[in-house]
Amino acid sequence: MKIFVTGGKGMLGRTLRRVLTDVEIVVGDLPECDITQVDAVQEAIAAADVDAVVHCAAMTQVDLCETERERAFLINETGSANVAKACQTLGKRLIAISTDYVFHGDKPTAYLETDEPDPQTVYGASKLAGENAIREFCSNHLILRLAWLYGDGGPSFLHTMLKLADGTRPTLKVVNDQRGNPTSAVAVARHLRMLLERTDLCGVMHLTCEGETTWYDYAKEIFRVAGVKQEVVPCTTAEFPRPAHRPANSALEKAALARSGLPPMPHWQDALREFMAEM
Ligand SMILES: NC(=O)c1ccc[n+]([C@@H]2O[C@H](COP(=O)([O-])OP(=O)(O)OC[C@H]3O[C@@H](n4cnc5c(N)ncnc54)[C@H](OP(=O)(O)O)[C@@H]3O)[C@@H](O)[C@H]2O)c1
Repeated sequence: MKIFVTGGKGMLGRTLRRVLTDVEIVVGDLPECDITQVDAVQEAIAAADVDAVVHCAAMTQVDLCETERERAFLINETGSANVAKACQTLGKRLIAISTDYVFHGDKPTAYLETDEPDPQTVYGASKLAGENAIREFCSNHLILRLAWLYGDGGPSFLHTMLKLADGTRPTLKVVNDQRGNPTSAVAVARHLRMLLERTDLCGVMHLTCEGETTWYDYAKEIFRVAGVKQEVVPCTTAEFPRPAHRPANSALEKAALARSGLPPMPHWQDALREFMAEM
């Protein structure tokens, strides 16, 4: 198996490169392969001669996207369209990575693949536009929606918490009214390996670890597993304003994964323990 990974130098890309030891990975990332340049993308994928393309490249800084709307859409929408067109022209299967931010975040229960997207941020809107471009331009596609991701080298909530717990802060305030599925990029990589074989699967699939929690309880679990003494105090989203709106509910239901017959994702606490032991 040989794959081309756009954004292969990013957090998920680095984790894929470490975990998928039986897959030959060709990295497409800046500056050599800019997905906003349609010819460059097509030439790079054609030259790589791969079985499939995994599209991880994105502008992922949620707050920065609010002030740099044009760049967010250029990378997340136009860039995705370019990757999709290249895959269609070259007859390659495309596995594209998307996000829970396509949803509003006010649903009381976990989001299904069939729920109507309603992004509340520029990041979410640009990623949804990217999903739509992939549907429009590449018939052989699988869109994987991830959330609350951590992986090799970060940045992620896990990495931030461990940095902040350097002994200089008697207490750490962490938001306790946002829920989601903390998700290990290692677990994503292992499922992606199986999905590369399942060429019958297409459309959209949610892929997050099992179990739900809040950022506050997640932070407490990180410090417990790390054996770090750090007092954590719950706070509300309103007490911790950010430039981009944060979804109250990011939890994703994995109905498509269950239907596929593939094993479920690991529970977030098991995946976290494994990742932190390797860290
Ligand atoms: N992190 C999360 O919590 C999370 C949650 C849900 C979904 N996702 C999705 O998962 C995917 C991977 O995320 P990640 O956390 O690995 O992000 P990341 O670390 O920011 O990696 C993205 C990579 O894409 C590169 N890139 C940016 N613009 C590019 C362009 N024009 N052409 C080619 N490469 C470009 C980035 O390079 P620079 O660093 O130089 O910009 C970076 O290496 C993304 O699609 C993201 O939307 C992430």
